[in-house]
Amino acid sequence: MDNVPYAHPAWIEIDTAQLRKNLQIIRQYIGKHPKLLLPVKANAYGHGLVPTAQHTADLVDYFGVSCLQEGAILREAGIVNPILVMGAIHAEQVHALAQYNLEVTISSLYKAKLLAEKSEQIHLSAPIKVHLEIDSGMNRTGMRVSTAPAVIEYIRNNSCIELVGIYSHFATAATPDDPFFNEQSETFLQFLQHHNLTDDSSVLCHFANSAAVACHPETHLDMVRPGLLSYGYYPRNDLPSDLHGIQPCFAVKARVSYFKTIMVGHGVSYNHSYKAKKQSRILTIPLGYGDGYRRALSNKSTVILKGKHYPVVGDVCMDQFMVDIGDDSGYVGDVVTIIGEDNGASITMEQISDTCDTIPYEILCGFNDRLPRIFT
Ligand SMILES: Cc1ncc(COP(=O)(O)O)c(C=O)c1O
Repeated sequence: MDNVPYAHPAWIEIDTAQLRKNLQIIRQYIGKHPKLLLPVKANAYGHGLVPTAQHTADLVDYFGVSCLQEGAILREAGIVNPILVMGAIHAEQVHALAQYNLEVTISSLYKAKLLAEKSEQIHLSAPIKVHLEIDSGMNRTGMRVSTAPAVIEYIRNNSCIELVGIYSHFATAATPDDPFFNEQSETFLQFLQHHNLTDDSSVLCHFANSAAVACHPETHLDMVRPGLLSYGYYPRNDLPSDLHGIQPCFAVKARVSYFKTIMVGHGVSYNHSYKAKKQSRILTIPLGYGDGYRRALSNKSTVILKGKHYPVVGDVCMDQFMVDIGDDSGYVGDVVTIIGEDNGASITMEQISDTCDTIPYEILCGFNDRLPRIFT
């Protein structure tokens, strides 16, 4: 690591080979037909929007973003894959959406009309490509199956917008055997069949998120959208053996910024929530909740230094936190692993998210851009 010029004393390391391997395993698993959309919304689940897309563009068919801004950043960075904006759009964005050649999600007749009318007003040279979102039970966005046929007809009769996809999203795929999964599945699949959409090669039908990709091949259809799985995590405990090579590629590391010895009974950090039980060596680590290392980890997690775990002590601050290394040695400039592996010891994303009473998604997305992403 010493040959890498780190401009910042804390950083996120992305194992590029592992990220690519994850996508190759998924690609092999889904077989030849379905296309692969990699969700890169929310800074590519914290991995870094642009570098993640740049390092995977040859392995995926589509990228999925949440909003115009994320799509525009990818285009400005030279990404040419089709990009689907999965979140809602508004009228003022239509020109930029077209200019950046972004495909748009339509969730209502109102939005379809708005998009068509705005496109006509600004005289776009080509129709905007749209994916219709069907709400099969998530009750977030998407139109009900009963209202969708009228919207499909509207889009098909309008030369300013072109129907290229139709999709839905699972609410309970992360819970094995949840009966609602089958209900949703039936609702969407029956809708597609009833309207002959599965046979229509001009329209991509897509449905499967990570858990559905792994455990419900009947939902793979024309395209899959695995986010968490692509980044090496799995929301359940029943990952099929063909996917076992999938591993996380995300590590959080920092260089020790300060060292001091404290006496028995002395408190550490705000509120003195930790008091030394004996004379101890305390290291300061230069990242905190201002970077995404959650305050809930105060006195609850560890870091790894030279293959050994040491406890995080005292309250995590905005920009730094402290570690008690007892009588062991640690020096300013030493690299500690905060999430990831070092010399056979590991701190997993799941351990961190469990400690924070949340899910890996939220921890990943919570690491902001103050920490540089280093693609190794
Ligand atoms: C519409 C849509 N598709 C796919 C995904 C990917 O989900 P997951 O990361 O669980 O695979 C998401 C994530 O929130 C989503 O909103």
